[in-house]
Amino acid sequence: MTMNVIGKPVARVDGRDKVTGRALYAAEFNQSNQAYAVIVNATVGLGRITGIDQAAVAKMPGVLSVLSHLNAPKLAYRPHKGSIDPKTGERLHVLQDEAVRFHGQPVALIVAETLDSAERAAAALRITYEAQRPIIDIADPDARAIVPESGRDHTRGDAEAAFANAPVNLKASYDIARENHNPMEPHATVAVWKGDKLTLWSKSQYVVNEQAEIAAIFGIPLENVQVICPFIGGAFGTSLRTWSHVTLAAMAARVTQRPVKLALTRKQMFFTTGHRPRTLQHVAIGATQDGKLTSLIHEGTGETSRYEQFSEALVASSSYLVSCPNVTTRYRLAALDTGTPVFMRGPGEASGVFALESALDELSYKLNIDPIELRRRNEPKLDEGVNKPFSSRSLIRCYDVGAERFQWLNRMPQPRSMLDGRLRIGIGVASATYPAYQAQSSARVRLLASGIAEVEVAASDMGPGTYTSMTQVAAETLGLPIDKVRFSLGRSDFPPAPSHGGSWTMASVGSAIRAACISVLEEAKKRPSTDRPLEATATTQRDAGVAGRFSMHAFGAVFAEVAIDPDVGTIRVRRALGVYGAGRIINPLLATSQCTGGMIGGIGMALMERTVLDRRDGRPVNAHMADYLMPVNLDTPKIEVQFVDEVDPHVNPLGVKGLGEIALVGMAPAIANAVFHATGKRIRRLPILLEDML
Ligand code: MOS
Repeated sequence: MTMNVIGKPVARVDGRDKVTGRALYAAEFNQSNQAYAVIVNATVGLGRITGIDQAAVAKMPGVLSVLSHLNAPKLAYRPHKGSIDPKTGERLHVLQDEAVRFHGQPVALIVAETLDSAERAAAALRITYEAQRPIIDIADPDARAIVPESGRDHTRGDAEAAFANAPVNLKASYDIARENHNPMEPHATVAVWKGDKLTLWSKSQYVVNEQAEIAAIFGIPLENVQVICPFIGGAFGTSLRTWSHVTLAAMAARVTQRPVKLALTRKQMFFTTGHRPRTLQHVAIGATQDGKLTSLIHEGTGETSRYEQFSEALVASSSYLVSCPNVTTRYRLAALDTGTPVFMRGPGEASGVFALESALDELSYKLNIDPIELRRRNEPKLDEGVNKPFSSRSLIRCYDVGAERFQWLNRMPQPRSMLDGRLRIGIGVASATYPAYQAQSSARVRLLASGIAEVEVAASDMGPGTYTSMTQVAAETLGLPIDKVRFSLGRSDFPPAPSHGGSWTMASVGSAIRAACISVLEEAKKRPSTDRPLEATATTQRDAGVAGRFSMHAFGAVFAEVAIDPDVGTIRVRRALGVYGAGRIINPLLATSQCTGGMIGGIGMALMERTVLDRRDGRPVNAHMADYLMPVNLDTPKIEVQFVDEVDPHVNPLGVKGLGEIALVGMAPAIANAVFHATGKRIRRLPILLEDML
């Protein structure tokens, strides 16, 4: 198949709009006569509200309304389990009762003429509580352990017996900190009621779900809610769900009969918009002297809230990443007095693969086998977890290509053997993997008499370049140049798309666009001379037969070099390389940017990011950009990305596997393994800190 547009490094079609400010984000959809809402958050970590002095602030200048459980409208909160919401538990019912379930829970809302007036009143509002000590530490013996209803345990063979009988074995435990997504753009919603119809300009990775969620909460028909979100300033998963601030914005607009804008502060982004759950993991590996795995036990526990069971694929990749006859994986949750976590880039896999790939690295030193060679000796021929062939798997090719480009063979194998002046140098490697999903999606294409094609899907673009890559798919299929395609997304009244996450947007939305384009071309053949626009809508999903026959995942090999100052413990990533086998690459420019960003996220996970909670009340003590550290330019060295040619005829018609999530997976273990190589110190807790080096 020769491609004219797909596979080309097309620059972002929305790039000019973004850098000139013409691209509007949720908080920029200002309305005439707009009022401003500010949330007041609970200052205790668990308990109940005993008093709120609403009258005192209601009289302050500019204040239009003060809402709390005492006077807020009772909302329907009809059941609605969108595909993104935890299947078990009930979502936070905001301002509906006096209970405080976690620190930072919204307990009151001020609506005022100006943001300034609303903020002043919010600061002045006096609330009294009856407080209890919350349980916020996953390792707290009082934390309630739950077997998640989503059940993900896997067993093959007898891993316990094989571990006991293994010639070589090791056991290790891993602790990965809670992280918050911290995109540049904070959450924001502008809400407008016209009669019983609600329009929301709202930051969302899933506009049709936000529409359904808000309709269910307010007990109004789906078609009465319109959600609009043309641009997103980064999200990494935090905008997958519709959180309580969207409900509050709509509530404020209804109570005051005014358009209302509600934007979260950076601090509030740490309270109620999800987080990567802290995880505790235990890995036990048994192997032969020549490095063949005989036993693998991987147990992991993740945080959830008391009111919902958030679950992710923490230990799932241990069932297929390496070949091993005896495997047990177990996944548990610890219910804490915190808000519900949510998916964060590389959800589950990023944390689970850190544990597995750290343990494999440790085994390689124990056996004195090169870490890449160890992966090679344990490369499976098929997915042993489900006993199906992989639709394609290029892991070893990624290692080969990466080893050559990173000059792996120049590395001295012994730990603490490489120096640059007084700096200790270490080079590490780790595997990356993520499932190649495809969800149901629809798309609509209109061919105008002017020769322009209009394409519409209720998809989102949180930054990977969806506008551009989808334009390429449509242009390619229709045989049109890029500038003849107008692609629109981010409206809930467009044909429905799945959540913009899980690395499935191109597989899902791209397949639907391709099908709609094929169908409109057939229409054009039937009616060659028409002056009316031709239109076609298509809905696609994964072929069930193919899904039953194959295991479908992307794979990658990630290399990192660190330089550590032995006197002060600073760890610098000097260079990094990610090599990925992810099917067809629609746009190598966007794909490289996507992976570079993900790898930088992995540097954050390895060395910087952690949300620290005050043990007394669950307050995030570093809820601001000064103390929640993330990599900046000086922390991000030369990062290189390479894709191996991979033709996957099974995965979907476009042959794509997705890149957004896998790009973060593997980076943290590659860095931790490099730190071990540099120093001989095996750090099993993330982030790795300066003091760990001293
Ligand atoms: Mo991705 S964590 O599904 O936004």
